[in-house]
Amino acid sequence: MIKAENSDISPIHDWPEADAYALAQSSQLVELIRDEITLAGGAIGFDRFMEMALYQPGLGYYSAGSRKFGITGDFTTAPETSSLFSICLARQCEQIFQVEGVSTLLELGAGTGIMACDILDELGRRQALPSQYLILETSADLRQRQQQLLQQRHPKLLNRLVWLDELPSVPIEGVILANEVLDALPVHRLRYRKHVAHELLVGTDDAGFIWRESEAGFMPEQMLQTYGELVGELPDGYVTEYNSMLSPFIETLSTTLGNGAILLTDYGYPRREYYHPQRTQGTLACYYRHRQHDNPFIQIGLQDITASIDFTQVAEAAHASGLEIYGFNTQAGFLVSSGLEKIISELGAGSDQAMLRYSQQAGKLILPGEMGETFKVMAVGKNIRVPLMGFSFGSHLHRL
Ligand SMILES: C[S@@+](CC[C@H](N)C(=O)[O-])C[C@H]1O[C@@H](n2cnc3c(N)ncnc32)[C@H](O)[C@@H]1O
Repeated sequence: MIKAENSDISPIHDWPEADAYALAQSSQLVELIRDEITLAGGAIGFDRFMEMALYQPGLGYYSAGSRKFGITGDFTTAPETSSLFSICLARQCEQIFQVEGVSTLLELGAGTGIMACDILDELGRRQALPSQYLILETSADLRQRQQQLLQQRHPKLLNRLVWLDELPSVPIEGVILANEVLDALPVHRLRYRKHVAHELLVGTDDAGFIWRESEAGFMPEQMLQTYGELVGELPDGYVTEYNSMLSPFIETLSTTLGNGAILLTDYGYPRREYYHPQRTQGTLACYYRHRQHDNPFIQIGLQDITASIDFTQVAEAAHASGLEIYGFNTQAGFLVSSGLEKIISELGAGSDQAMLRYSQQAGKLILPGEMGETFKVMAVGKNIRVPLMGFSFGSHLHRL
């Protein structure tokens, strides 16, 4: 996610006021979470708080009807920034289709549906359309928006489009795509004291929600593998996140894939950088109208809450569930390897204005100060016999 062009982090008093309907929905959600905290005896895990804030049916940030994406929403993602991102992904999919003879696409968490539209445009232009384009979207509101956009832009391809309620039970032969979905999975929040992780739970006081540090140490078996060697290095008071849903999520995707690849794009780091001793306040980030901050206890249901991805954890989960790891690259490296420069010269040919526009968009996608370095692309999968084009320059596998 990136903030809108020219938008600075603004002080809280400078935030645009939500409308009365949105505020009423937010109050309802706050009451529901308060009730759950009371029922739980005074505190719940942050993972549960984040789950309710984002996904509570009808009220959570992704379940309710706020705009979310783009200049008038809260944040902008790579496919919303430029079709160049989706065109490069499409070319990577085309290579896999051609070499492996597979032809299904499954997109998880499709947002506004713009990435699906742009991928279908590009694959159509190149006579490489998928036999089916499946979308699994947990938000009913976004699913409706995706259907409207795809009906408008691809009325002739509706017979290939299927919205799923759950992952297919028969493994698919093709490519699974997920852009900025892993960062939307609820996380635990932890604080280290004397080399022991304590979970930061969510409690309440008269003013609202507050952090409550649990007395007991928090180190489930799965997390021990992740943190084992790092714990000794983390300073007192160090705050970080742990994503306990990530590994089961990757395992489920492994079961869903027969042959082909899973392309995961998201912001995150290899483990050594994620849990760097100097990253003392973790990676939790909230987005409201292009303001980024780290307080999840305000604007509840009206703002996005995310945490970066430990890509070493993704690779370990992939390996443990029988997936091969084909590549890990920065977003910049992936896009350049997938032919970004050539694509810009094709699209901009004959028009200086178009060339300038695409070049500016490419800058946002690949410059280190924009999305180029923080965002990564990981490819895992089964039975792919050739090196994937998106990882031909600048492989970062050694950093995992
Ligand atoms: C930050 S948005 C990214 C949207 C889009 N991929 C993009 O890049 O613009 C996260 C998306 O993931 C969806 N989502 C969250 N959890 C999911 C899950 N477990 N399975 C599928 N989609 C999920 C959300 O509803 C939303 O569409």
